[in-house]
Amino acid sequence: MNILLETYGCQMNVADSELIRSILIAKGHQMTSSANDAEVVLMNTCAIRENAHRKIYGRLDILRPLKKQREAEHRPFVVGVLGCMAQNLKEELLMHPVANLVVGPDNYRALPNLIDRIVQTNHHEVEASLSEYETYSDIAPTRIEGVNAWVTIMRGCDNFCAFCVVPYTRGRERSRSIPSILNELEQLVAAGYPQVTLLGQNVNSYCHEGETFADLIVKAAQIPGLKRIRFTSPHPKDFSEKLLYAIAEYPNICNHIHLPLQSGSDRILNLMNRTYTSAEYLGLVKTIRRVIPTTTLTTDMIVGFPTETEKDFQETVQLMDAVQFDNAFIFKYSERKGTIAARDYPDDVAEVDKTNRIVRLNNIQHEIAFAKHRCYSWQTVRVLIEGSADKGINQQMGKTAGNLTVVFPKTAFNPGEFVSVRVTETTTGALYGEVIE
Ligand code: SAH
Ligand code: SF4
Ligand code: F3S
Repeated sequence: MNILLETYGCQMNVADSELIRSILIAKGHQMTSSANDAEVVLMNTCAIRENAHRKIYGRLDILRPLKKQREAEHRPFVVGVLGCMAQNLKEELLMHPVANLVVGPDNYRALPNLIDRIVQTNHHEVEASLSEYETYSDIAPTRIEGVNAWVTIMRGCDNFCAFCVVPYTRGRERSRSIPSILNELEQLVAAGYPQVTLLGQNVNSYCHEGETFADLIVKAAQIPGLKRIRFTSPHPKDFSEKLLYAIAEYPNICNHIHLPLQSGSDRILNLMNRTYTSAEYLGLVKTIRRVIPTTTLTTDMIVGFPTETEKDFQETVQLMDAVQFDNAFIFKYSERKGTIAARDYPDDVAEVDKTNRIVRLNNIQHEIAFAKHRCYSWQTVRVLIEGSADKGINQQMGKTAGNLTVVFPKTAFNPGEFVSVRVTETTTGALYGEVIE
């Protein structure tokens, strides 16, 4: 059958979609890029904030006329919601007249059978049970060509941050074995990938038979020909010095750390169950900059967590000011059903206050990024080319090891190749320059 697979949400969903593709192709299905040509439309979805849910309901609405048309023609039309929203809402999704298949993140092996059953019976199917063991380690992902390969090394999360739905949608933490990961990395080098990103919801709590994330990344860094290694997302509580020294020692481990902070108020951090204080976070930042002075630091922040006052918010502002992140992804708190926060704390910060705080925090962060980027003027940076720049066919773009975007006039070099760029101009979002070699 022709199957359209759409991916929403984080990199872990992108990686899961590559597994889903392999599972479907192995059963003789073909992938297509248009719903009109598809007998099966699958959406690999996210549940992290309410707007992620809304987007999928909107997409289901758009598919309604196509569903009616297929019914009139007595042709099968399977519309599946997969991923975190599927796990989160389960049967509730079938209340939408278009969806007839719901499959959670640990049940993708069942997809071909479930699709067959719907085609045969015209009934709906829901498979959303969480597993303590499933890592899909034996399935080789079908990657869509690119410069970076996502490699899931652990699944699930045991941290239960009060605001977060992920422990419920992705289940308990479990890690793949080091040999299976190293084997995949070696194959990626052989296939020509210059960069891999090791993925997990709490990537640095990776642990397999006593071996830690630091042990794994050191072994990965020693694979001949592996030019760039990234990882995301680490949790501050699991950042060992051994990991920092590994990043400092191996030039192919990129000097970029995404270190979600969430809030600068100790009272809010405590309610969030983040298990660190602002002073501990700052201490970690200091250690990171001592061991890896050239590293860039990025973060995730939430504004408007229940009970957050202007005073709490000012503490967040102060901490952002103290750290000077290179980039920050700032979100308005969105209550998620079933989480600790939804159970214990009413969503009591007014929408106007959330909006006001996110705007102010973004402005502050933009100023910081602008000033930090200006320091790169007239420096030469090493860039891995990713493709054409959004703004012009005559421009290419790539990333520094620190994950800064660099835009430069088109060269004869291809995506996946490295160039040196002298920076001539900088903005909040990127560095601009010319290739000098
Ligand atoms: N596991 C990763 C992050 C997963 S979600 C980590 O811990 O770093 C990515 C980001 O979404 C989080 O860091 C958080 O800032 C944000 N987020 C998660 N739940 C949210 C919610 N209920 N409302 C608003 N933002 C949320
Ligand atoms: Fe969610 Fe916290 Fe786990 Fe990240 S560490 S996925 S924010 S529970
Ligand atoms: Fe969203 Fe699930 Fe990722 S909730 S952020 S797709 S783990």
